[in-house]
Amino acid sequence: QIKRFTAPDIRARKGGEPIVMLTSYHAHTARLADKYCDVILVGDSLGMVMHGLETTVPVTLDMMILQGHAVMRGSQRALVVVDMPFGTYEASKEQAFMSAARVMKETGCGAIKMEGGARMAETIRFLVERGVPVMAHVGLTPQSINTIGSFRAQGRDETDWAPIEQDALAVTQAGAFSVVLEAIAEPLGRKITEAVAIPTIGIGASVACDGQVLVMEDMLGLTPRVPKFVKRFGDLGPGIEKAMADYAAEVRARTFPAPEHTYPMKKKG
Ligand code: KIV
Ligand code: NA
Repeated sequence: QIKRFTAPDIRARKGGEPIVMLTSYHAHTARLADKYCDVILVGDSLGMVMHGLETTVPVTLDMMILQGHAVMRGSQRALVVVDMPFGTYEASKEQAFMSAARVMKETGCGAIKMEGGARMAETIRFLVERGVPVMAHVGLTPQSINTIGSFRAQGRDETDWAPIEQDALAVTQAGAFSVVLEAIAEPLGRKITEAVAIPTIGIGASVACDGQVLVMEDMLGLTPRVPKFVKRFGDLGPGIEKAMADYAAEVRARTFPAPEHTYPMKKKG
């Protein structure tokens, strides 16, 4: 039995070896990610990646729990963090605790993540005091798409820095064990990383962050359009397409299944 990384283990990585984090929503991709990652995020990006939704707003707690459970079954070593979806934690700290407790009890995950900085600080403190490790998420917060209007990088003008820095400091003081910085100007990502005592996990932030995260399907080259901050470490789309085209051709030509893929009768004594 391999011991899993805990939220305090990740918290202790501040300023040390970079934290490697990827999203995963399934047992089979979690098994692979588990070999290379310290943290696996069951992100609410699953709404877009798995379900073809336009935004993460419609994602439900049940969707997160189903996939969170799959990722826990597929992994042994990484800390599994499950995203709290829109509408399941913002109304009150009590609502947040009830939702987070359900996620932890039903998936066995080691932490949850929620979007929001200063406005979520009181909730973060309430959860942490009651046994729920919280990863915060500031900068671009995609669940707020309907109030912000578009997915744009934040803090590209120095006059916009103060509220984002205050968000990162507020979640740190509230007891978050780490914070995701999404789509912010590079110098701001660097500055926040130096200013806060907890590890920062960048996605479109800065190489100076204490760790990095990407959506797995984006970095594998499986999603058709990706933001500027995604590096495609793979190009799996064409490979999958070729396999499917070959399969279709062989079925139509009756060359698949071949004898080695079929069951002969038992040999009679
Ligand atoms: O939902 C998600 O995948 C995320 C990461 C992009 C940080 O929140
Ligand atoms: Na998310």
